[in-house]
Amino acid sequence: MGQQGWDAEGYDRSFGFVSGYGRELLGLLGPEPGERVLDLGCGTGELAAALTELGVEVRGIDADAAMIAQARANHPGIHFEQADAHDVVVAEPVDAVLSNAALHWMLDPAVVIARVRAALRPGGRFVAEFGGQGNVAIIRSAVRDAAVAAGTDPTRLNSPWFFPSPAEYATLLEAGGFRVRRMEHFDRFTALDDGSDGIVDWLRMFGTGLLTGVSTDLRDQVIQDAAERCRPVLFRDGRWHADYVRLRVWAERPDRATDDRCSAGVG
Ligand code: BEZ
Repeated sequence: MGQQGWDAEGYDRSFGFVSGYGRELLGLLGPEPGERVLDLGCGTGELAAALTELGVEVRGIDADAAMIAQARANHPGIHFEQADAHDVVVAEPVDAVLSNAALHWMLDPAVVIARVRAALRPGGRFVAEFGGQGNVAIIRSAVRDAAVAAGTDPTRLNSPWFFPSPAEYATLLEAGGFRVRRMEHFDRFTALDDGSDGIVDWLRMFGTGLLTGVSTDLRDQVIQDAAERCRPVLFRDGRWHADYVRLRVWAERPDRATDDRCSAGVG
């Protein structure tokens, strides 16, 4: 994940559905016992634990110290370390790199893709899911409207996330030396935890970067107002939802022979 200073316990308590959805990715990854996998943006380590149960040797990295501390506490037998995906280096190439709900926090995707390629053995796979174009558009526009209504200069409001279209991300992957095997861009209107305070909790956990242009004494008011603006669309059947849009990716670092053919211009 990319934002520093996470509340890792609160994340586990109220946003456990994130790793729940991540388990769907394991089907796409198709891990074999004995394979080596790098989990990029591992959060509190739930996916890494699921991989370990399948006999995979996992190394989990996350830029956030609190997430890594929580991951180590939750899963003492797994190797976790604090590292930024923009400069991660592995000693031994891995069979696969997996990433769930993390790449949208990493704002230099070409650099991350280059690091992923360098970490993979030839023929290794990169399987990821993260926010795609249009992700949380309703939440973002509600925050923007609430911030402007509270007197914030709109030019000070920025999105802290990278939500690419399939075409944009496929272009980056191909430029970075990957073969794109599969890509899906789909809506996942996601029910938030029953016990949570819905969009208010979501914004408190994840929205700090959206609110940097808003003066600190107004942030709570802006969050409450944004939640009310979201309510007609995102509060359904007695539950809050987030308007997630996912980009799911399966790409491959070509094996040596294919790589050589491509560099010779015959690929
Ligand atoms: C997401 O999983 O799509 C997401 C989570 C937090 C902030 C932004 C996006």
